[in-house]
Amino acid sequence: MELLERSRRLRSVPPLRELVRETRCSKSSLVYPLFVKEGRNLKEEIPSMRGQYRYSPDRLLFELEQLSNAGIGSVLLFGIPKQKDACASGAYAQDGVIQTALQLAKKEFPNLYYITDVCLCEYTSHGHCGILSGQTVDNDSTLPVLAKTALSHVQAGAHMVAPSDMMDGHVSALRRELDKHGYTNTPIMSYAVKYASAFYGPFREAAGSAPAFGDRKTYQMDYHNRKEALKKAQQDISQGADIIMVKPAMSYLDIVRETAGECRVPVAAYSVSGEYAMIETAASAGLVDREAIICETAVSIYRAGANILISYHAKELAKFMDEGRIG
Ligand code: PBG
Repeated sequence: MELLERSRRLRSVPPLRELVRETRCSKSSLVYPLFVKEGRNLKEEIPSMRGQYRYSPDRLLFELEQLSNAGIGSVLLFGIPKQKDACASGAYAQDGVIQTALQLAKKEFPNLYYITDVCLCEYTSHGHCGILSGQTVDNDSTLPVLAKTALSHVQAGAHMVAPSDMMDGHVSALRRELDKHGYTNTPIMSYAVKYASAFYGPFREAAGSAPAFGDRKTYQMDYHNRKEALKKAQQDISQGADIIMVKPAMSYLDIVRETAGECRVPVAAYSVSGEYAMIETAASAGLVDREAIICETAVSIYRAGANILISYHAKELAKFMDEGRIG
C-alpha cells in the first residue's frame, strides 16, 4: 500500500520516541509543598494524603535532606500553628511556625530555595483566608495583615512569597511592604488564578483550615470562568507579580494553556491535594498503575504550558526524570 505519511515511523524504538518528544521537563522546575506544624519531634502522616506528613520544624530538616538528595531545589512551606485566633496573629509572629522553620532550615540547607505560602486560613479560628467583618471576609483590612505576614517570612529567610488568599490588591500590598523594607529583589509568585475548588478538600484536613461557616466563593474564582483568569493574571502582573500560578492543575489545563500563552511571565501550576489523593486512592485500590498515572498527569501539565510544577509527587517525579521515564 502506498502510504507516504506514516506517523508510526517516529514511534518505533525508545531512543527515537525520546528524541522527538515535544514536551521536556526537568527536575529544576519542580516545587515540593510541605506542611510544617508547630511543636517538636513531630512527623504525622496526613490521613487524607497518605504518604504526606506534617513535620515540626526540627523534623522538617530530615525531609529537606532527602529532597535535596533527590535533586529537588525548591520547597513551598505551609504553616500549622498551635493556636488560631480571629486576627491570624500566628501568621506574622516572629516565633511563628514558618518563621522558626525557615531559620532552622536556612542554616542547615542554605542551598534549597524557600517559598512560603502567604495566607491567613491556617491561622484564623474561623478558617477564612482574611479578616472578618461580621460574616464577610473584609478585603481591605486583610491586606496589611498579609503584607505583615509576607514581610515576616522574608525577614526569617524566605526567598520568595506566594500569596494564596485571593484578596483584591494583595500583590501590590505585598510588593510595597517588601520594597519599603529593602526587599526589592524578593519575587512574588501569585496564586493569581485560583479557583474555588473541591480539590482542596484533603489540604484543609491537613492544615485544619476548612472555613467554619460558608465557603470561599466570595474570593476564589468561579470555575465556569476562563476570561476572568486572564484578567486576574494581568492584574497581578501589573501589581508586580513575578510568577503567576494556576490552581488546581488537572481539571484546569485549558486555563494553564491560555495563561501560559497570554502572560509574559513564568507560569506555575499547582497539582493540589485532591489530585494527589485521587491518584493515590485509585492506585491503592488497584484501579490504575500508580507510577504511570503520576508520570502521565505531570507531563500533561507541562504540555499545557506550565514552566513550574508544584506537586506532592515531586520527589517521585524527580526520580522518574532521572530514569528518563519522562522528560
Ligand atoms: C490557602 C491554600 C489552600 C491551598 C493552598 N493554599 C487551601 C484553600 O484555599 O482552601 C490548597 C492546596 C492543596 O489543596 O493542595 N489558602
